[in-house]
Order: sequence, then structure tokens, then C-alpha cells
Amino acid sequence: MDENLIPISFTINGEKVSKRILPSLILIDLIRDQLQLKGTKPGCLEGECGACTVLVNGSAVNSCLYMAVNIDGKEILTIEGLSSIEQPLHPIQEKMLEHGAVQCGFCTCGIVLTTKAFGEECKKEGKIPTRKEVKKSLEGHLCRCTGYVKIIDAAEDYLTHPSV
Ligand code: FES
Ligand code: FES
Repeated sequence: MDENLIPISFTINGEKVSKRILPSLILIDLIRDQLQLKGTKPGCLEGECGACTVLVNGSAVNSCLYMAVNIDGKEILTIEGLSSIEQPLHPIQEKMLEHGAVQCGFCTCGIVLTTKAFGEECKKEGKIPTRKEVKKSLEGHLCRCTGYVKIIDAAEDYLTHPSV
């Protein structure tokens, strides 16, 4: 047994997982290479683009900067966890399609997860965000294809219709 490995247990997309990992392992590598969840995208790998965003205990984090040991005892949601047989597309994803906010799609998973986290935050506070707040919530995401307007339209549409 490799004594350098650290035991961690966590929940990802509703499933409990236990692993022994190197202390230097980055969360995105655990997710993509060890768990084979490829919806989490490696973009800049330095915290600038948001493509690698996942939710940790409901908060959006850049998984390229997050040490995997820190997920011990926590709940992780990746884009794969948003779908189910009953609901293949989450309402945020429906809105992205409806507004034509997806081109190559590289940025999309991260944007959808950040929108989900922001939506939960707004719900807790009982508020409907303004367009300015929607824009601000997505400022950590880069998209090289869409020009952003359609993405903001889609996120705003979702976030201002709390029943969806
Ligand atoms: S890949 Fe993580 S922020 Fe760009
Ligand atoms: S749709 Fe291509 S990077 Fe956003």
C-alpha cells in the first residue's frame, strides 16, 4: 500500500465514493481521469475561464484550482448529475438551447452549473436577480463563440422564472 495516499470519501452526483489519492491531486483530474466524468472541461487550467466549474456543497468552484483532498466529506455535482432518465435536460439546459446560447459547448457545462448555484442562492434569499446581477454571476466564465448576450438571456430567463 502506498503510504503517500490519503483516504477520502465523498458523494458525487448522488453516489458515495471512497478513494485513496495523492495529496497533490487536483479535483478536475480526479473527476475526469479517475471517475471518467468528461463533462467537466479543462480550459485554461489556471482559474480564468470557468470551463472546469463543478459544485461543491452547492457552491461553484474551479475544479482546476481545487485540491481533491478538500472534497472529503462533501457533495460534488458535475454536469452529468443534472440529468436523469425522467429529465434528460435540466431546465437551465433547455433555456440555453431555447436562446441559441450554445455553439461549440465547451463553456456550457460550467455556465449551467454556476447558474444553478446562483439560482439556489437567489431562492434562499427569496429574490429575483436583475440582469446586472445575472451578468455578474457569470463573470468568471469565458466563451469564445457566442458573444455572451444569448448566454445571459438564457440564464436570466431561467433565473427570473423561479418555477422552472
Ligand atoms: S480550466 Fe479551470 S478555470 Fe479554466
Ligand atoms: S459556446 Fe464555444 S466557448 Fe462558449
